[in-house]
Amino acid sequence: MAEMVNQPKAAILGLLRSSGSPVSGTQLGRELGMSRVAIWKHVRDLMARGYDIERSGLGYRLVSAPDLLLPWELRGVRGEVHHFDEVGSTMDVARELARKGAGTGTIVVAERQSGGKGRLGRQWLSPPGGIYCSLILRPRISPAHAARTALMVSVAVAQAIRKVLGLPAELKWPNDVLIQGRKVCGVLAEMQAEADAVDFVVLGMGINVNTSVSEARATSLREELGRQVSRSHVLEAILSEVEALEGLLGTQELLEKWKSLSATLNRSVRIVGLGEEIEGEAVDVGSGGELIVRGRDGLLRSVVAGDCFHLS
Ligand code: BTN
Repeated sequence: MAEMVNQPKAAILGLLRSSGSPVSGTQLGRELGMSRVAIWKHVRDLMARGYDIERSGLGYRLVSAPDLLLPWELRGVRGEVHHFDEVGSTMDVARELARKGAGTGTIVVAERQSGGKGRLGRQWLSPPGGIYCSLILRPRISPAHAARTALMVSVAVAQAIRKVLGLPAELKWPNDVLIQGRKVCGVLAEMQAEADAVDFVVLGMGINVNTSVSEARATSLREELGRQVSRSHVLEAILSEVEALEGLLGTQELLEKWKSLSATLNRSVRIVGLGEEIEGEAVDVGSGGELIVRGRDGLLRSVVAGDCFHLS
């Protein structure tokens, strides 16, 4: 079942967190303009969701909270938040919402996915502990520049990981986020457009946060830091970075930010695309997000899609 933003729960948790000691139902009700019965109903819902809230003659005290991406835990998010314990793919849910008119900034998050989708038709394993989120945007850009939205999200993820956790996140073309050469996040973009205008894009991000990673080329934030990471803090930071970067979508500055975080440029790479393989040096990223590669024959080629392997 989807859970939507719930202001009273956010407010009750805010007051319980800032107090640290018990707060009576009467006081909560007075501060939030609600009856004690209404407060109790919300507290009961929170307890059913895994919040440990102690009840005594003095009132309610928050003992601990689960690390779930519940809508009321995501502060400062501008759009609607649709939260699921489990879903096939957040991409499919978000696309349906967008088709029905959901506004820019709407997000769909799931604690796990049974049919997570990766790039190039691959599967994206989505066990509990990761962030699985699809963001709907309605940017005013031409379809030819739509790939920039995915570049933007990868920049946002890398910047958020750097700022919040201090880890040296970098980018691998087209949209992977790496830490010390190992993948921590993948970004998937789907778009609906007319000939000359984008109707909406759905930007999916899958981030290994508190998950165990079995692949040598992958890592998780927990593995890098040696401790659990608050997924809600990471996601809040990413969404706020996206908001800050959106204004740059049509500018060279966005590409410059991508370049400054890039682990791909100036490297020897192999690109395995649809039916072709190119080896050479990655020299630049073009205005539509394409990678410019100088082949072994010295000629420049522009690559729009494919898997990129760093050779050196
Ligand atoms: C990649 O292949 O690197 C992209 C992976 C994208 C995975 C995310 S998880 C949230 C969203 N829902 C999906 O089914 N896929 C994307």
